[in-house]
Amino acid sequence: MRLFFAVELPAKVRETLGTFRLAESTEYRWVDPALLHVTLAFLGQQPEERLETLQRVGAAAAGASRPGVLRLGRAGSFGPRREPRVLWMGLDGDVPALLACQGRLDTELRGAGFDLEDRPFSPHITLARRREGARSSGPSKWPPTPAQVGQESFTLDHLTLVESRLSPRGPTYLPLLEFPLGPAV
Ligand code: 2AM
Repeated sequence: MRLFFAVELPAKVRETLGTFRLAESTEYRWVDPALLHVTLAFLGQQPEERLETLQRVGAAAAGASRPGVLRLGRAGSFGPRREPRVLWMGLDGDVPALLACQGRLDTELRGAGFDLEDRPFSPHITLARRREGARSSGPSKWPPTPAQVGQESFTLDHLTLVESRLSPRGPTYLPLLEFPLGPAV
């Protein structure tokens, strides 16, 4: 199974993010708003037997983390400025809580023997990916202005272990395990 840890986003926030989809930008493949999330750790293909360890790791990392309140932040892109590869939305608010939580998760996962990417964590919500062979430069109406992004806040209060099933029609994400942040009551 193909797995990753994520922060899920409330429907209202995903709906706002869906409005940034640019009709003219056929050179980009836009993520279905229902699937938008913040990836904390991508685990790739894992045997089902690892789920027990992931349950323990997720509970340890989440239990030692504190909840926070986040907002959408500044939009940006990865890749060359004139031909961005990925268009994303950044986060604002209690980002230190998110970073601390991701740091714990990363440490716990490595300690349990998972092989993770060494790239520093850059919290973002991927909104669109450039299609292979796309020819024109980046979308002209990108990024959205702060007024378009708004100030809506949402609570970071749990982590989710998600299974990603790939198909030619795109991925399906299945939430497998949820881990509330903070000490168990
Ligand atoms: P991204 O949003 O930055 O593209 C599910 O595939 C999630 O895992 C995606 O949101 C993706 O993050 C993330 N991910 C990280 N590394 C990945 C990789 N090597 N292959 C596929 N997805 C990856």
